[in-house]
Amino acid sequence: MTNFKTGRRRVAKGPGWVPFWEDGGWRIDVRLAAGRIRLHDAFRLIDREGLVHRIYKVKGLPSVSAIFDDLRRLRDIRSLTHCDYLAAHFPDEGETARLLQGDPGNGNVRFCAVAHTLRRDNPDWVIVTGDLTDDGLGYELVAAGLAPFLERGRLICIPGNHDVYPTPPFWNDKHFMKSAREKRRRWADFAGRLGLPASGSYVYPLGQGVLLAHFDSCHPSTVPGSASGLVRIHELNHIDQLLKNSQAASLKLACLHHPVSPLRVKGLGLAAFHPGMRLRNAKRMQEHLKKMGFAVVMDGHRHMGYQYQVSTGPMYLSAPSTTYGCRLGAKPFYWRLNVRQASIQSIHKAPIGLLARVETRAGEE
Ligand SMILES: [Fe+2]
Repeated sequence: MTNFKTGRRRVAKGPGWVPFWEDGGWRIDVRLAAGRIRLHDAFRLIDREGLVHRIYKVKGLPSVSAIFDDLRRLRDIRSLTHCDYLAAHFPDEGETARLLQGDPGNGNVRFCAVAHTLRRDNPDWVIVTGDLTDDGLGYELVAAGLAPFLERGRLICIPGNHDVYPTPPFWNDKHFMKSAREKRRRWADFAGRLGLPASGSYVYPLGQGVLLAHFDSCHPSTVPGSASGLVRIHELNHIDQLLKNSQAASLKLACLHHPVSPLRVKGLGLAAFHPGMRLRNAKRMQEHLKKMGFAVVMDGHRHMGYQYQVSTGPMYLSAPSTTYGCRLGAKPFYWRLNVRQASIQSIHKAPIGLLARVETRAGEE
């Protein structure tokens, strides 16, 4: 059900709204308070597609000019930060910082900040463990931001539920709903640019005796709206066979979108309860991953950054949301693995510098 929290696009509708200001296809609507039903006057900013970007509800009119100034300022920023626009005009670090200051919760701009950190750090490989997009939109921006890695063939992205599951039912306006087929097609186009298979599990050599296995866990359950996953047994056996055939691998890494390791309620509190998010055959996967001899298993999905070492098994490394941070409270970071002579030298958190200094407002979109 956590799937429901994001991917929602609020369409401008509802009674009582009157257009008040319009410019370049953007507009501000006003809805005045009406008796006991509506106690507040309301203002909303709407883009060219009819999507609401911000709503203000106020009692009395003294703050109206400040609200209009804020909504117009937001329009100026959002019209420059649509994913297609940013992909075609990728901002430099200075411009990214300026945009962040004006709109700290803007996911597209926050991604630009992540891309600049990666470009600066310049790792040999970038591996993204899924949920690159909110609802299958924005691959162009990912490709533009991570272009230096993509061009060198050093970018590996695996799909997450947000990328390939159908839009949850009754959540978005009909016009914005996407089927699994459409989202899979978008993903296949993107994966093709990276030189990766469009679907399924595979093994990818990273060079110098390091092998990466991707287990495709994006197989939805029959429960509508569930974000859970499953690794199909025949794919598990397929990877097992591929690993047996490749003698050269001295270090085996695995990645999949859904977390395999158990979450301990102790210390995590309510954050550990995340219904509809699990890997449905996690126990079986744990046994297989151990038998296959993986040193590190990387996942994503829950926006929780933690490492979990099994005494006689792999290190489970779970990525936070690199753009929005960790549900456990940490600022945005990515995991950096230092590998030398096909063995793990160190694992540490690499912060996203530009995002360490910005705070989002409560309820920011
Ligand atoms: Fe996910």
